[in-house]
Amino acid sequence: MDTSFKNLHVAILSSPGMGHLIPALVLANRLAAQHSVNVTVLLVTTAVSPPESKLLQIPLHRDLVRVVELPPVDISHLVVPTTQVVAQLCVMVREALPLIRSAIAAMDRRPDAVIADLFCTETAAIAAELGMAKYLYVPSTAWFTALTVYCQVLDREIEGQYVDQPEPLKIPGCKPVRPEDVVEPMLDRNELQHDEYVNLGKRYSLFDGILLNTWEDLEHETLQAFRENETLRSIIEIPVYPIGPLRRPVEPVDVKSDLLGWLDRQPNESVIFVSFGSGGVLSAEQITELAWGLELSQQRFVWVVRPPTKGSVDDAFFNLGTDFDGTPNYLPEGFIKRTQNKGLLIPMWGPQAQILSHQAIGGFMSHCGWNSTLESITSDVPIIAWPLYAEQRLNATFLAEEVGVALRPRVLPTKEVVRREEIESLVRRLMEHKEGQEMRDKVKKMKISAMEGLKNGGPSYKSMCELLSKIAVRKGNMNGLVG
Ligand SMILES: *[C@@H]1O[C@H](CO)[C@@H](O)[C@H](O)[C@H]1NC(C)=O
Ligand SMILES: *[C@@H]1O[C@H](CO)[C@@H](O)[C@H](O)[C@H]1NC(C)=O
Ligand SMILES: *[C@@H]1O[C@H](CO)[C@@H](O)[C@H](O)[C@H]1NC(C)=O
Ligand SMILES: *[C@@H]1O[C@H](CO)[C@@H](O)[C@H](O)[C@H]1NC(C)=O
Repeated sequence: MDTSFKNLHVAILSSPGMGHLIPALVLANRLAAQHSVNVTVLLVTTAVSPPESKLLQIPLHRDLVRVVELPPVDISHLVVPTTQVVAQLCVMVREALPLIRSAIAAMDRRPDAVIADLFCTETAAIAAELGMAKYLYVPSTAWFTALTVYCQVLDREIEGQYVDQPEPLKIPGCKPVRPEDVVEPMLDRNELQHDEYVNLGKRYSLFDGILLNTWEDLEHETLQAFRENETLRSIIEIPVYPIGPLRRPVEPVDVKSDLLGWLDRQPNESVIFVSFGSGGVLSAEQITELAWGLELSQQRFVWVVRPPTKGSVDDAFFNLGTDFDGTPNYLPEGFIKRTQNKGLLIPMWGPQAQILSHQAIGGFMSHCGWNSTLESITSDVPIIAWPLYAEQRLNATFLAEEVGVALRPRVLPTKEVVRREEIESLVRRLMEHKEGQEMRDKVKKMKISAMEGLKNGGPSYKSMCELLSKIAVRKGNMNGLVG
C-alpha cells in the first residue's frame, strides 16, 4: 500500500472552542507528518471568543499545515443566555456555512476531501456540491459515536425521558448505555439541544466515512458492530476508521522542582495522582471526605486541589477563600501536617501529562475526560473514575466495564457524596491490591497496543492509509487518470 499521499490536500473543519480546535490540529499534524498530506484547517470563530489560534500551544507542521480563521459569526440574535452548548455550537456552525463554502471555493487548490468535526455535519452538503470527498472526525470513542447515531432510533422508540428508563438503552451490537450515563444533550428531551443532537447523528450517514480517535484493540466489538451488525448498518452504512489514539503533545512545562524531586524519591508506581481537570470542582463536603479517604488509605498521593464550589458549606473546617497561594485552608484541620510524608498538594493546576508519565505514579483519580483518559492509558496508569459531567459518565463506564482499567464509586459522585470509607477502599484496591495490579498490567497491554497501532504498518496507521487511498483513488478518477 502506498503510504505517502503528497498530492493530496485535505481541509479539516473545526467548530469553535479549544476543545474542538486542538483535536483538529493534532489530526492535521498526523496527516502531514505521517502521510505528507497538505492540510488546511478551517476554523469557525465567533464574535465573542477571541481568535483561537492566538492561544495555540500546539506546534504545527509548518510546511504542510495551515490554519485559516473564518470571519467571526455573530449568533447573539439567535440564542439566549440559557441556550445550551450543543445547540449554540450547531447554530454557530450553521451561521458559518456560507463562510466555509466561500473559503473553500476561493482556495487556489481545491481540497480533495473535507474532514469535518462532529458539530460540522451540515458541511456534507457543501462538500458534495464542490465535488470533494467528505469524512467526519469524532475525537472520541466508537461507543459514543454509536450512541449519537442510534439516538434517532431511541428518539422514535422510547417514550418519556431517557434518564427515567428502567432498562439500559440498547444499541445494536454495542454495550447498552445505562440511562444515568447518557450524554448531556440526552438528559432532557424537551431541550433544543436534544433535537440538534439527534439531527447531528442523522447527518453522519451523509459522509463517506467516520474517523474515530480510538483503536482496534480498545473497542474491537463496537467497531465490529459498525462493520457487521445489520441492524446498526440499516441506520449507518459508512466505513469507520479507528486512527487513534491521537493525543496532544506533552508540553514541556517548568515543573516546580520540588514536585519532580518529591516524585523521584517515591517508589515506582506507589503514588496516586488526584485531579479532576480544569473545570473540575468538588463540593466542600466532598473535599473533606476525599481528604479523609486519602489519609485513611495511607497511600502516597499528589492532589491538585481547588477551592470547593460555593453554596454548600457550613462547616467550621472550611473557609471559602478562593485566593490562596500557600496552604489551601479548606482542608480538614491537621490534614496537611498528618500527611506531610505521604502526600503533596498542588493548588489549582498541575502539568498532568508530565506527572502521569512519572514512574512513581501508579494510579489516577480522574474525571475521565477523553484527554485525561488517553494520557492515563498511554502512561500505563489505571484509574479511579470520578465523572463530574454527563459526557464523562460514558467514559467512566467504558473504562470500568469494557476495558477493565478503572474502578468507580458505587454511586455517581454527582448524585451523592462519596464517603471517606469508600474512597479509602477504592484507593487501596487500586494501589495495594492484586486487583489494582491486574489493572496496571492491563493498561500496559493497552498502551502497547495503542503504540503499535500508530506505528508504520500498525492497525491505526493502516486505517488512515486506507482512508487516504480512497481519497486518492477518487481524485484520480475525477481527473480521468484512473489509477
Ligand atoms: C483537552 O486538551 C485540550 C488541549 O489542552 C484542551 O484545550 C481541551 O479543553 C481538553 N478537553 C477536555 C475535555 O479537557
Ligand atoms: C446486531 O445487534 C442486535 C441487537 O443487539 C443483535 O441481536 C444481533 O445479533 C446483532 N447482529 C450481529 C450480526 O451481530
Ligand atoms: C523504576 O522505574 C524506572 C523507570 O521505568 C526503572 O528504570 C527502574 O528500574 C525502576 N525501579 C525499580 C526499583 O523497579
Ligand atoms: C469522554 O469525555 C469527553 C469529554 O471530556 C467527551 O468529549 C467524549 O465524548 C467522552 N467520550 C465518551 C465515550 O463518552
